[in-house]
Amino acid sequence: MFTFIPQLVIGTADLAAALLFMYGLWRMSSPVTAPSGIRVAGLGMLVAVFASFLYVFGVSAAARPHLPVNIGLAVIALAAGGGVAWWSGRRVAMTSMPQMVALYNGMGGGAAGAIAAVELFGNKAQGATQLVVTLIGALIGAVSLSGSLIAWAKLNGVIKKPLRVKGQQIFNAASMAATLAVGSYLVYAAHGVAEPWMTAPRLIELYFALALLCGVLMTLPIGGADMPVVISIYNAFTGLAVGLEGYVLQNPALMIAGMVVGAAGLLLTLLMAKAMNRSVANVLFTNFGAAPLHKQGAITGSLKPTAPGDAGIAMRYSSSVIIVPGYGLAVAQGQGKLYEFVKLLQTGGVSVKFAVHPVAGRMPGQMDVLLAEAGVPYDMIFQLEDINDEFASTDVALVIGANDVVNPAARTDKSSPIFGMPILNADRAKRVFVVKRGEGKGYAGIVNALFYADNCDMVYGDAQAVLIKMIEAVRGLGLPAVA
Ligand code: TAP
Repeated sequence: MFTFIPQLVIGTADLAAALLFMYGLWRMSSPVTAPSGIRVAGLGMLVAVFASFLYVFGVSAAARPHLPVNIGLAVIALAAGGGVAWWSGRRVAMTSMPQMVALYNGMGGGAAGAIAAVELFGNKAQGATQLVVTLIGALIGAVSLSGSLIAWAKLNGVIKKPLRVKGQQIFNAASMAATLAVGSYLVYAAHGVAEPWMTAPRLIELYFALALLCGVLMTLPIGGADMPVVISIYNAFTGLAVGLEGYVLQNPALMIAGMVVGAAGLLLTLLMAKAMNRSVANVLFTNFGAAPLHKQGAITGSLKPTAPGDAGIAMRYSSSVIIVPGYGLAVAQGQGKLYEFVKLLQTGGVSVKFAVHPVAGRMPGQMDVLLAEAGVPYDMIFQLEDINDEFASTDVALVIGANDVVNPAARTDKSSPIFGMPILNADRAKRVFVVKRGEGKGYAGIVNALFYADNCDMVYGDAQAVLIKMIEAVRGLGLPAVA
């Protein structure tokens, strides 16, 4: 039995952890405060972990002999998990972040599923409500685990193509129906309403196996381009599963953390879907790859290559430049050189702004983080709706490693897979320079008419190498700095 003091400490620590999670998440809403938000939320996690060790004061006399082993196992798990997370977090490349998020999200779902498994196999759920909540948490957690692992495999190139077969959606629906049937049967059997046709542990195993299969089947047909949205959905699932298991364990910190993560994941999913002008159902049940093969409308004009130095000098002599960064900038790790170039332009009196598209890169906020990493002040970074009207009165748009987010087909070509997606109006600038390595397509796999437009010049090369040449050329002018 708990004595009053440990119970009070646990309760207070749980409340503090929950408040820290919420405050941390709130600070994550702006790139300026996000790093401290992550630290605050991390502190909340530390407090919650510390509080969970205090439960040793409340274990029953029968369980007490197992304490040393269990505490030892918990410490080993913490050290191993924390060590791997620290090591992988430090060495992960910015472009591999989505894979990492998928993997860690899957682990969150798996952890919720594991809590449910302990409850179910140990027959601990008391009453129908607890059992139903545990089973729902188990289902959502298991779907999130296997679905996230498939998402990781797709993003990491282990699974290269969406796997689709005829009648897949019917098969998927049947698998989900079978899982729910086994879950319902478990509830009825536990309350003696139905004769068990299998022992309870076998039924629970079948339930988990079917739930894991559902996650795999749901994710396999979805194209790689939609994976960030899918991960975000699974993120919401994981939060929900954790929250439900928090209810089962009567742990308020787990409940609040789960609900906060679930709500954040859901909102992020909706925002991403909106930024791509697609519904969540469209992402889950159709997707880019499933759409009929897109026939590119006739493209007029030609690609006009220009030297990096000439482009750099043209920008130095202009009065305003808007930079559109994209996935290729992250690949090239060119953010540091880009800001060096920008400072050079600013010293020459050029007005420079950054225009960030909500789905530029491969995950939400990737460009904001990339630019913050290079030290770009936040007041130079503008979101699509705040800057789009300015392109028309701007001398130069520098599109660097971006493609789909400036493709005018999204405005006009109804057969395009990105039709309706809001795009940055780079094509409306007086002059456009596009930095990319060659004729590679963007994530949607379509040709970009902007590159052939009369006002557009192509600067071929790796973004970082191009920027180095641009910097050299501008420095070579030896112009005095403008005060
Ligand atoms: P993309 O359309 O993917 O285009 C990136 C371009 O960068 C490519 O055309 C590539 O051309 C170029 N590139 C690659 N490596 C480079 C390097 N080292 N140096 C210079 N250029 C390089 O990128 P975007 O404009 O950022 O658009 C993002 C896409 O991802 C959108 O279709 C979006 O819907 C999708 N997506 C994003 C998200 C989120 S949340 N961000 C979620 C789901 C889907 P070359 O090969 O010729 O160099």
